[in-house]
Amino acid sequence: MNNITEHIKSRRSVRTFDDRELSKADIEKLASFANTIENPYKIPVDFKFMNAKEHGLNCPVTVGTDLFVGGKIKCTENASVAFGYSFEMFVLYAQSIGIGTTWIGGTMNRGNFERAMKLQGTEQMYCVTPLGYAADKMSLRETMMRKGVKASVRSEFGEVFFDGSFGKALTRERAGKLADPLEAVRLGPSAVNKQPWRVVLTEDAAHFYVKKVKGIPVPSMQKIDLGIALCHFALTAEDLGIATEFVILDSGMPTSADAEYIASYLLK
Ligand SMILES: Cc1cc2nc3c(=O)[nH]c(=O)nc-3n(C[C@H](O)[C@H](O)[C@H](O)COP(=O)(O)O)c2cc1C
Repeated sequence: MNNITEHIKSRRSVRTFDDRELSKADIEKLASFANTIENPYKIPVDFKFMNAKEHGLNCPVTVGTDLFVGGKIKCTENASVAFGYSFEMFVLYAQSIGIGTTWIGGTMNRGNFERAMKLQGTEQMYCVTPLGYAADKMSLRETMMRKGVKASVRSEFGEVFFDGSFGKALTRERAGKLADPLEAVRLGPSAVNKQPWRVVLTEDAAHFYVKKVKGIPVPSMQKIDLGIALCHFALTAEDLGIATEFVILDSGMPTSADAEYIASYLLK
């Protein structure tokens, strides 16, 4: 995918479509790209296109399209993070060819979607997205929803990225060549726009964490958000020619009681 930074910057959730059916050529492009998608966990995600009328699918926040795509993945360790990474690759590719999407994990009749996906064994369908061409004007419901979650606002750089250890805010200057890959993380979509990603930059690595809410295990939606963060970081770094290596460390990374460790990118 070319111009990744541009697609990350211009993407927004699209919930109001213009009623045009997706062209066959666009569906074919999406389907063949989906077949090439990989994630650093090497857990494959299977993409399936579904028609709302055929399968009785309902997503009350979207209008103007009947086409959805869902992803399914075997439920193993890190599956939710891996899903986030792969599904976001799909979302960004759709953006790059002018097709609107919205990550949907909650607002749908999930039972019907899962039946349409034909889940087998331990397979999970975490999220789906509608696919279509964005309408010129957002529906009132979409406008209200965006206001409700302050969808166009993101945390400041130094609120979510740290310098050497948790607690010390990272500046763009200190981030150096990693400022743009981190900015790409900051702009990412997340469930209810919670932006639960936290990154600690050390001399030789960017360590990724998910913010914990006291007393409860981190929900899978927030781990999916971390997959999105890893995807934005890795694609942007690659685009800028910054060599990195994905690793899951057992020890040696900074820790915090308020954040659960996910993975790191070592700088090569
Ligand atoms: C994992 C995940 C699940 C989401 N689930 C829903 C959903 O069920 N319904 C919905 O309207 N938006 C959903 N969203 C979209 C977010 O609300 C949206 O990404 C966020 O508000 C930021 O807005 P933006 O995507 O326009 O930048 C989801 C996003 C993510 C990443």
